[in-house]
Amino acid sequence: MSTHVVVGFGPAGAATARLLAGQGHTVRVVTRSGGTDEPGIEHVALDATDAGRLTEVARGAAAIHGCAAPAYHRWASDWPPLASSLCAAAEATGAVLVLLGNLYGYGPVDGPLTEDLPLAATGPKGRVRAAVWEQARTLHEQGRVKAVEVRASDFFGPGVTDGGHLAARVMPRLLHGRPVSVLGDPDAPHSWTYLPDVARVMAEVAGDERAWGRAWHVPTEPPQSVRQMVDRLAYRTATATVPVRAIPSAVLGVASLFSPLLRELKEIRYQFDRPFVVDASAYEAAFSVRATPVDEQLRRTVHWWLERLSRTP
Ligand SMILES: NC(=O)c1ccc[n+]([C@@H]2O[C@H](COP(=O)([O-])OP(=O)(O)OC[C@H]3O[C@@H](n4cnc5c(N)ncnc54)[C@H](OP(=O)(O)O)[C@@H]3O)[C@@H](O)[C@H]2O)c1
Repeated sequence: MSTHVVVGFGPAGAATARLLAGQGHTVRVVTRSGGTDEPGIEHVALDATDAGRLTEVARGAAAIHGCAAPAYHRWASDWPPLASSLCAAAEATGAVLVLLGNLYGYGPVDGPLTEDLPLAATGPKGRVRAAVWEQARTLHEQGRVKAVEVRASDFFGPGVTDGGHLAARVMPRLLHGRPVSVLGDPDAPHSWTYLPDVARVMAEVAGDERAWGRAWHVPTEPPQSVRQMVDRLAYRTATATVPVRAIPSAVLGVASLFSPLLRELKEIRYQFDRPFVVDASAYEAAFSVRATPVDEQLRRTVHWWLERLSRTP
């Protein structure tokens, strides 16, 4: 058993930290706000852009899991110092750097997304995500850092709240039988990556050096449209399905004037206006984690939301 540092305790960091602790590893979680220790998990309050202190925290660790992200509207300015600090701590300690990434770096693509596509995004958020990995990959190729990137499509599942498209903006309404409004075409096929599968891949690649030096897609069930997912979720709740509407462009335009999040989402609208499909066959050919069957994903997600809503008025 070894020590793992998990930077960030959002949905993915929390799932990864708890999985690793459950496997018997010692886990140190780094966030600026800190947190309450749990069995096997120690929280350290630290701004991870402080490379010196991050290195101290990571001394002796087998892996540093990069699960933090700056605020969505600050990626262009705040990702570079965070990425550089993660790389510096990995270089100083020899711990493998396991970066959790997304699919923005590819930009709009026709057909399924595979890891061998160029990182050709032209928008600021896609460019900065591509640069985060390019920095780590270059250092890996120079033999200075051991690095791997795990790329997921939109998160779905227990623990996913504000940062998920089929989460806080959809689940409470669906469970109360109310219509839901979504970004983009509700009938476009879309890949939804189950959060516990992300954590399982983070843990698997940390411990298998065959994975290092490149990016991998998290195994994800075949794509389904928002409407299909909502229908299947509603079926699980034994309530009638609810209407699913696309937010009209004019409404989005006006709302964007007031919401920084909606303004930022403009760059990645293409992911929801047309098919957005991830291909993880390379990972599946080499490693053992498989996507959790979608029925189980739906069952666990509905259960999690029902419990959560029963605790909050
Ligand atoms: N949401 C999705 O659907 C999705 C899909 C694919 C990939 N991803 C990627 O997966 C990663 C994790 O996403 P998430 O949604 O689980 O997390 P998140 O909600 O973005 O959480 C951010 C976490 O990072 C911490 N953090 C931010 N800046 C920090 C800093 N300078 N030092 C230390 N901690 C810092 C925050 O804690 P403090 O504020 O307390 O510091 C918080 O715990 C992100 O890179 C995200 O882009 C997300």
